[in-house]
Amino acid sequence: MDLWISVSYRRIRFPRVGSTNDIALEAARAGEHPGLVVVADVQTHGKGQTDRDWASPQGGLWTSLLLDAEPPERLRGLVPLAVGCACCRALDDLGVDARLRWPNDLMIDDEKVGGILVEARAQGDGLTALVAGVGINVTNDPPVEDATNLASRGSSASPEGLLDAILDRLPAMETALREGDSDRICRVFMQNAWGIGDRMLFDGEPVVPKDVAVDGALIVEDPDGDVQVHRGGSLRRPS
Ligand code: BTN
Repeated sequence: MDLWISVSYRRIRFPRVGSTNDIALEAARAGEHPGLVVVADVQTHGKGQTDRDWASPQGGLWTSLLLDAEPPERLRGLVPLAVGCACCRALDDLGVDARLRWPNDLMIDDEKVGGILVEARAQGDGLTALVAGVGINVTNDPPVEDATNLASRGSSASPEGLLDAILDRLPAMETALREGDSDRICRVFMQNAWGIGDRMLFDGEPVVPKDVAVDGALIVEDPDGDVQVHRGGSLRRPS
């Protein structure tokens, strides 16, 4: 008999915080269990990738999920892909065709609508708390050029409705992470990936993205036909 243990999510909502990721990490340190979902209407110090600020005014979805998954270190690169896939599927459920730009940007066409910031922190008990922060522009003005929000793409989704949809789609990806099922995560990534097979720039160099490796690395081909495997860096479409 299969035993199915599902995570029950527990939401805490704040009108205003510094960063929901920081709250979730602090809660984990204080003994909070996986399944905690921290949501804020506004973040005053929202954190983006590579130490950038993340503008988080009223109208967006700013949330952090204390994941029920502790994949082995070598599979950590799959975490943003798995969470990003859950977000793409959730957006699809709401009628929005969003794609995941490796490794953690949510895209509508060539505009960024959201992003994921995964942070891991070692706990005293030898476990690692894994927090996935998700930021999606819903009705708030997109903060920069080349960014968009859901409302301007004709979606009437609300931040809370979008969170419900993400939490419906997250358990399957958390299970895949917990079980180290990289094939499944890579397959869903490829179904939702942005820019695969197109001419792109990787950190400014021309490449064609081809696939993801079992550890979540991006596999690209350069103009000489040589294959490169990247674990950091970013893709963009040439102008
Ligand atoms: C990126 O740079 O694309 C990642 C952005 C992640 C932003 C979210 S908003 C909720 C959570 N709390 C934070 O401080 N950052 C993440």
